[in-house]
Amino acid sequence: MRYAISYVSTAKKNLSETEIRQILNDSENNNNKQNITGLLLYSEGNFFQIIEGDQKQIVQLYETIEDDSRHFNVIKLFGKEINKESFDGYKSDFISEDARYSSARLQNYEHYLEVLDKPTKNAVANILKAFIV
Ligand SMILES: Cc1cc2nc3c(=O)[nH]c(=O)nc-3n(C[C@H](O)[C@H](O)[C@H](O)COP(=O)(O)O)c2cc1C
Repeated sequence: MRYAISYVSTAKKNLSETEIRQILNDSENNNNKQNITGLLLYSEGNFFQIIEGDQKQIVQLYETIEDDSRHFNVIKLFGKEINKESFDGYKSDFISEDARYSSARLQNYEHYLEVLDKPTKNAVANILKAFIV
């Protein structure tokens, strides 16, 4: 059974850009090796993530991530079975100040939501929009 979990969180205050980029790179490397798809974004002190894959693996990974001291205020947006095929790979991005306000970028991420049922997709798309723009 494929399963997806999404959350938003707050980065620990004194994390450097290098440390943040390290988290993004590590998660991309680990997830690509394990057939976990989804998206991890960092913007202005916050993370937004969707992870999708084998249910047991995803639940375990989420618990590990939740306990990671490099962020706090982890708020789960949803945990759901996925009926459609998985996301198109795994991607992580650091959204810098000058890259914000880009609707092209938003569209780029919205296709990661296509696998979700409509109400969930709409709710998460709004959160994503608020996160990026
Ligand atoms: C915001 C955030 C997102 C993370 N996302 C992932 C992820 O998608 N995949 C992953 O393997 N580790 C991710 N990590 C790192 C994990 O918390 C953990 O450090 C890593 O899985 C190694 O765990 P281990 O030392 O128990 O093997 C993330 C950490 C943070 C702070």
